[in-house]
Amino acid sequence: MEEQQRAEAEAHYLASLFPEDEQLLRVKQGIREAGMPEISIAPAYGQLLTLLVRSSGAEAVLEIGALGGYSGICLARGLGETGTLTSLELEAEYAALAHKHLQEAGLGGRVSYRIGDAADSLAQLEQEGGRFDFFFIDADKQGYPLYLDYALRLARPGAMIVADNTWLRGRVADPAKQGPSVQAMRRFNERMASDPRLISTLLPAYDGLAVAVVK
Ligand SMILES: C[S@@+](CC[C@H](N)C(=O)[O-])C[C@H]1O[C@@H](n2cnc3c(N)ncnc32)[C@H](O)[C@@H]1O
Repeated sequence: MEEQQRAEAEAHYLASLFPEDEQLLRVKQGIREAGMPEISIAPAYGQLLTLLVRSSGAEAVLEIGALGGYSGICLARGLGETGTLTSLELEAEYAALAHKHLQEAGLGGRVSYRIGDAADSLAQLEQEGGRFDFFFIDADKQGYPLYLDYALRLARPGAMIVADNTWLRGRVADPAKQGPSVQAMRRFNERMASDPRLISTLLPAYDGLAVAVVK
């Protein structure tokens, strides 16, 4: 079987094992209807977010990059009864649609959105003394190193830091690629891999997912 065919067959097999439920399919439909970019997290990684939030017992989750609420639903599903999700999103219309989708999924009371550049929202959260035990980074790629700085400062001991698209479709591993997003992602990956405060790994499936625990 050709490599491309094999990848497609594997993707179909995985989708048949873990079909997306109605709530997640509704998010994708809402995003399509609104003409927003169709760049929600891969379903298997969404499932992994739920699993990691649940197994870590996280009470306060911070998401950077809400889009239409796909990862927000996955994160909120992992929370216990008193857990909360704070979600940072640049675009007010995206946050409104994400909130609508979380409400439709019965999770609207768990989430609060902060609109604007995540760098500003993070500075504000730090000023307020905000502390979190789970971070999901999935916004503009050039911002990842800054978002990691903040995650380390706002983390409770044992917090998890997860970031999507750390592979940039293989561009991080191609020395010919030197654009600003690629360079920022390489810095982010290097720091995730070597910061002595972290235990980490990088999952190379889909577009790469970095996962770390703050010691
Ligand atoms: C890849 S999408 C997020 C997908 C979402 N996490 C999911 O899987 O359902 C990236 C999002 O980050 C937002 N974004 C981009 N730059 C941002 C910034 N500087 N501050 C906050 N959000 C930003 C975009 O508007 C977009 O909604």
